[in-house]
Amino acid sequence: MRSLADDDATMQSLVEAFFSNGFTTDNPLITEAVKRMLAAGGKRLRPRIALLAAEACGGNAAEHLHLAAYMELIHVATLIHDDVVDRAQVRRGVNATAVDYGNRISVLAGDYLFAWIFKNVTAGYAPPVPHILSATLASICDGEVLQLRGLGRLDVSLDEYVEVARKKTASLFAASAQCGAIVAGGTAAEIAALHEYGQAYGIAFQMRDDLLDVIASQRTLGKPVGNDVRERKMTIPIILALATGDVAFTADVKRWYHDGEEQAVAPILRGISDLDATSATREALSAYVVRAKAALEPLGASPARTELQKLADDLVGEED
Ligand code: IPE
Ligand code: IPE
Ligand code: MG
Ligand code: MG
Repeated sequence: MRSLADDDATMQSLVEAFFSNGFTTDNPLITEAVKRMLAAGGKRLRPRIALLAAEACGGNAAEHLHLAAYMELIHVATLIHDDVVDRAQVRRGVNATAVDYGNRISVLAGDYLFAWIFKNVTAGYAPPVPHILSATLASICDGEVLQLRGLGRLDVSLDEYVEVARKKTASLFAASAQCGAIVAGGTAAEIAALHEYGQAYGIAFQMRDDLLDVIASQRTLGKPVGNDVRERKMTIPIILALATGDVAFTADVKRWYHDGEEQAVAPILRGISDLDATSATREALSAYVVRAKAALEPLGASPARTELQKLADDLVGEED
């Protein structure tokens, strides 16, 4: 049996082949917009986690490539919408869909893609997979709306932030791991363990994404940096920097988040580093990485389980 943990390149190229040959719609403009975003790359973490979860439960990853591909497609549809909501210009190193096609086509292309995925998933998978994926999409939208309601609000707590991250990001990682385990015939304990892994991994992942937004470069990230601050989002580095009680930093944040003084954006980004909120963010995300790895304990030893641990460890590695 070909193991993903041993032959990642082959497995990933089979998923890619599905995107090239298996995805088409009746509408050429939608097909082109979606394929363009797929071709632009991305880390393909959700399909990878789904396949590793299947293997960690004794399944054969090669039999679950479609499920893995659907996970990535759900992600891509959320990205197309997310860039409209966040007014982001760049995604995966290329123009965001809305830049090339406009907001109107982007909203409809994302909707079409969701519908296309669910048409296939409901036809091809037994319960509870379609239910889990539908509930996940509801959770992502819920998280994005909660986040919008918190824009510009300096009193957003760390707990509220984690709730948003759980809903908008961790839910899809959790569903990927959980559904991978389900289709591979995992036991109830294995399925629960992988769901828990995905959830903790996803929260750590969003914390790292929010950290990268303040410290990385657009070239390495393939998307704009500083966009969260520009959009007045309350992300973990800002929450932790405000928690230091630094008066000058709080005043800078108020100048931009409340009064719209654009000159305050650069001092805010600098202040996050100066107040060591970057290290505090790394500590917070490390705790979720520990949780993610601990969640895997009920699973027997396997190369796939080791790989899942490694993916979690990568989140605490050096940011580049
Ligand atoms: C971006 O996810 C959206 C977040 C949940 C932060 P990824 O960082 O996995 O995006 P791609 O797939 O690599 O482009
Ligand atoms: C990801 O959050 C939300 C999604 C569900 C797509 P972000 O808004 O932080 O993701 P990026 O930074 O745009 O990739
Ligand atoms: Mg965004
Ligand atoms: Mg982000």
